Amino acid sequence: MHPSRRSILLATVGTLAAAVTSACAPSGGAPSPSRPWTPRTPQRIPPELRAADGRFDLTVQAGMTELVPGKPTETWGVNGPLLGPTLRLPRGRRVTMAVSNATSETTTLHWHGMMLPAAMDGGPHQPVEPGGTWSPTWVVRNSASTLWYHPHTHGQTAAQVHRGVAGLIYIDDDGAEDGLPDEYGVDDIPLVLQDRTVAEDGSLEFETVPTFGQMGPEVLVNGTLGAHLELGRTLVRLRLLNGSNARVYHFCFADDRPFAVVGGDLGRLPRPLQTTRLRLGPGERAELLAEFTPGETVRAMTRGGQDVVDAGDLTLLEFRVREDAASSRRIPVEFGDAPPPIEPPDHARVRRFALQGHDEINGASMDMTRIDEVVPAGATEVWEITNTVYAHNFHIHGCEFTILDRDGRPPEPWESGRKDTVHLPAKSAVRLAVQFGDDTSAEHPYMYHCHMLRHEDAGMMGQFVVVPPGDVDSTARTLPTGDHAGH
Ligand code: C2O
Ligand code: CU
Ligand code: CU
Repeated sequence: MHPSRRSILLATVGTLAAAVTSACAPSGGAPSPSRPWTPRTPQRIPPELRAADGRFDLTVQAGMTELVPGKPTETWGVNGPLLGPTLRLPRGRRVTMAVSNATSETTTLHWHGMMLPAAMDGGPHQPVEPGGTWSPTWVVRNSASTLWYHPHTHGQTAAQVHRGVAGLIYIDDDGAEDGLPDEYGVDDIPLVLQDRTVAEDGSLEFETVPTFGQMGPEVLVNGTLGAHLELGRTLVRLRLLNGSNARVYHFCFADDRPFAVVGGDLGRLPRPLQTTRLRLGPGERAELLAEFTPGETVRAMTRGGQDVVDAGDLTLLEFRVREDAASSRRIPVEFGDAPPPIEPPDHARVRRFALQGHDEINGASMDMTRIDEVVPAGATEVWEITNTVYAHNFHIHGCEFTILDRDGRPPEPWESGRKDTVHLPAKSAVRLAVQFGDDTSAEHPYMYHCHMLRHEDAGMMGQFVVVPPGDVDSTARTLPTGDHAGH
């Protein structure tokens, strides 16, 4: 980056950085690290999975992983012992997933952020029993973006994600490459961030924090504890996923160098946005471009905020840039095909959701047989989410949204793109412009819920169906059966 440009950027982002003061961890937060952060393991890069015929075979399975050298940990993964492959899905193509369950528990795989019919969504209504296989199919309509998949098992999501079931989905759009670095694992680097409490014997501790459930003092990056990554390029695209159960990250570099945010949950921003720090709540993704100097070593970290869920300055990984590193890429100026903001019509339907305690929305806990909302296909609505006590992360299936405002003020620039998940700090409110899809079914609901997984499991979740506009009033508000509704 040109030095004069960098100093201007530093001046403009100064206020933002000052707003996030690093505080000592409030009591009741995540346990403190029991060992100093040491870069000791080359960072894992999940394998890519492509399918010329559109068919992906995914097996959820148990296995052993060495997080601490010499102390194997019992973990779960997809097609391997920990995490899952990065699925490359071409926009416009039909894909079929064959999801097999080789574990001893019921599970599901949900395609977080994907626009698809609710029956293919992999939520709690599409369980895969031990030994079973479930084969959803859909045509990929999402824009170029980074999505992810994870279990969504009724009441068991936190435990199954914690054991390691999660993976990335890259939506590839040949028409929209825009000159971004795209060599997987070379200058297009996945970073799945998950905080964990790893005991000296290698075991993973689960319920570690009141209210929020599982948090940890150390962060696994792509399932690697103490990760270091050698870079052979000076301009690198980082695809961040907060795959944590509850932790909120304030991603930055240890030297607070600026970086450019180029994408959010569901696609590109109109132009790269410079910042030194980026907040990412559970379930959210961001794509950014970082610049490095040949021969340097620099760490990425999260800096602590004021809440239990973002407490503590933690190191994520160490980048080691080779002496001969170079890049022919430059930071693009703008992205012509970035999806535009969603504009609600003048008399848009407004729905209000109060997130109460850690287990209720609008006075009710999740009920698999209750339809909470009926949405007309293709509608653009305004959803107002408020928070009574704790921080939450609100996620809606089967839609794309943009943030209209936070507590009456515009959202942060880097969260202005299309999204499916939004962070709500304690005692706050957001208004969302929500664009729903055209896939209809009165029997197969989509979910909306808190993406802090203990809250989701405890019942901070509701269900909606999308139906033809003329059918809204006649749609049944109950589903015939419980656990296996829709089968
Ligand atoms: Cu990432 Cu309903 O989930
Ligand atoms: Cu989802
Ligand atoms: Cu919550």
